[in-house]
Amino acid sequence: MGILENKRLVITGAGSGIGRATSLLAAKEGASVLAVDIAESVKDTAALITSSGGKAMAAQADVSEESAVIAFIDQCIDTFGGIDGLHANAGISGGRKSLQELTVDDWQRTLSVNTIGVFLAVKHAAAHLVSQGNGALLCTASVAGLRANAGGIDYSASKAGVVSIVQTVAYQLYGTGVRINAICPGLIETGMTRPTFDLAREKGREDRIGQINPTRRAGQPEEIAQMACFLLSDKASYVNGQAIPVDGGLSASHPWAFPRTPS
Ligand SMILES: NC(=O)c1ccc[n+]([C@@H]2O[C@H](COP(=O)([O-])OP(=O)(O)OC[C@H]3O[C@@H](n4cnc5c(N)ncnc54)[C@H](O)[C@@H]3O)[C@@H](O)[C@H]2O)c1
Repeated sequence: MGILENKRLVITGAGSGIGRATSLLAAKEGASVLAVDIAESVKDTAALITSSGGKAMAAQADVSEESAVIAFIDQCIDTFGGIDGLHANAGISGGRKSLQELTVDDWQRTLSVNTIGVFLAVKHAAAHLVSQGNGALLCTASVAGLRANAGGIDYSASKAGVVSIVQTVAYQLYGTGVRINAICPGLIETGMTRPTFDLAREKGREDRIGQINPTRRAGQPEEIAQMACFLLSDKASYVNGQAIPVDGGLSASHPWAFPRTPS
């Protein structure tokens, strides 16, 4: 029996990368998945699950639109008979503009998807979970939300906001039986980071990717999905209010220089 047997989950950003990998693994672990994404590719995610015997439905929606969020939470309940968990994972990189280049429009766009989008999904899923007295909420933050040098100013602040949502909402949900946590991925090879990987490969520098963490490589979306499914499952029953890095050890260190090999 899978660790998510009979769980009914909403997973956003499910058309690609971490959200797709989490949807596929969750279904394999027994969950029914409402896969949500603004991109049409979310239909492929649902088709991949159903073609291998799992339960899934796709919803194309923008997580920054409150009416759309209410609609996809309701769709999960209508389709699967309820909701047991949410992975608010959809996000955008926001680019890498400098302090002087960044505009208010840039900020509003990044925050509307990465932070307000997470808030809306958490808010509307929690309303159902609290009334039934159990459930698991999970958000994708980032190591960029913990420290500098993993994203632009707007992106990093948007992810620090996600960490704060998780910490404060855990206490708003005090005694309700509903848990909330965040994953903070390091560098993971997905649609969002493809340009970095493509450029490194083009320059023959693929071996340099991920070298600043002690695991000495970038991560794969399936490695985030493993932690996501654990946190969404009852196996994580005493994990609450945490922002957990899954980053090959990147965030464990003070700044350091590569050790030189003696000549
Ligand atoms: N890839 C990394 O290295 C990395 C590191 C840390 C955190 N993250 C976070 O992981 C999450 C997943 O990203 P990914 O790396 O899998 O990238 P990805 O680009 O492969 O997937 C993100 C998905 O979110 C969807 N999305 C974007 N805006 C949306 C909106 N308004 N409404 C609904 N869906 C929307 C996209 O269409 C896409 O399918 C993001 O929150 C990202 O910030 C990624």
